Amino acid sequence: MKKPKEFLFTYPEKIVPQALIKKLSRLIKQRLAGVPVAYLTGHKEFFELGFYVDKNVLIPRPETEILVEAVLELAKPRMTIADIGTGSGCVAIALSKRLPKCDISATDISAKAIEIAKKNNRLNKTKVKFYVGNLLTPIKNKQFDIIAANLPYGWKQWQNNSSAASRGLKFEPQIALFTKQNGLYHYRKLFKQIVDLKIIPLAILCEFDPRQTNDFKKLAQDYFPAATLIIKKDLAKLNRILEIKL
Ligand SMILES: C[S@@+](CC[C@H](N)C(=O)[O-])C[C@H]1O[C@@H](n2cnc3c(N)ncnc32)[C@H](O)[C@@H]1O
Repeated sequence: MKKPKEFLFTYPEKIVPQALIKKLSRLIKQRLAGVPVAYLTGHKEFFELGFYVDKNVLIPRPETEILVEAVLELAKPRMTIADIGTGSGCVAIALSKRLPKCDISATDISAKAIEIAKKNNRLNKTKVKFYVGNLLTPIKNKQFDIIAANLPYGWKQWQNNSSAASRGLKFEPQIALFTKQNGLYHYRKLFKQIVDLKIIPLAILCEFDPRQTNDFKKLAQDYFPAATLIIKKDLAKLNRILEIKL
């Protein structure tokens, strides 16, 4: 009806058009089949901003707000920041809103995701530069102070877990969720690309699954032996973000 909830309480005598009732029952059927609410409304809040989402992008998660907060703690005006695996653009756009003087670039392998990220850039009036490509490849000639990434880190057993919490996952893009090598394949590739950069960033911040803590720290140590590693916890007090200070 494109009306606020209050409208329905103020005018209980109004009749809802038949076409809208049909649309609503279609939406209810989809929801019963497990389609996430954000895909039905086409909308998700993240870091107090609104984002358009559809089946081509991962629905932004509350734990990813910790990634944004961790970058904000380190960032200074005029720094250059990269967001790798941007999806809906939520991390880069939230950063751009808070850090309007920083130069922020973001990449994703999915051209459809980048289209949506650009749409969200317009909706939020931010100026992130978006690129389609494999990890850092499209921006490898730029220099970055901070690299942030929420890359796919799900693994096989996790994928096969049929708990209610993971039911909605089948509706989200599988390339956004799952990867090889116990969930570490994409981060391994990214770290390799970073080691090969002409100028190494000051810090890399990555989201991971708490069960990967030891393996993920070891992976970071293998690529950046001199770095300081700091783990940040999410609101459930679970390890969620690895900060690699170089
Ligand atoms: C876990 S989702 C995160 C999306 C978004 N950053 C967020 O936090 O909601 C991972 C994203 O990485 C992208 N991706 C997967 N493989 C990639 C690659 N090789 N290079 C760049 N992006 C990739 C997926 O398309 C997906 O959008």
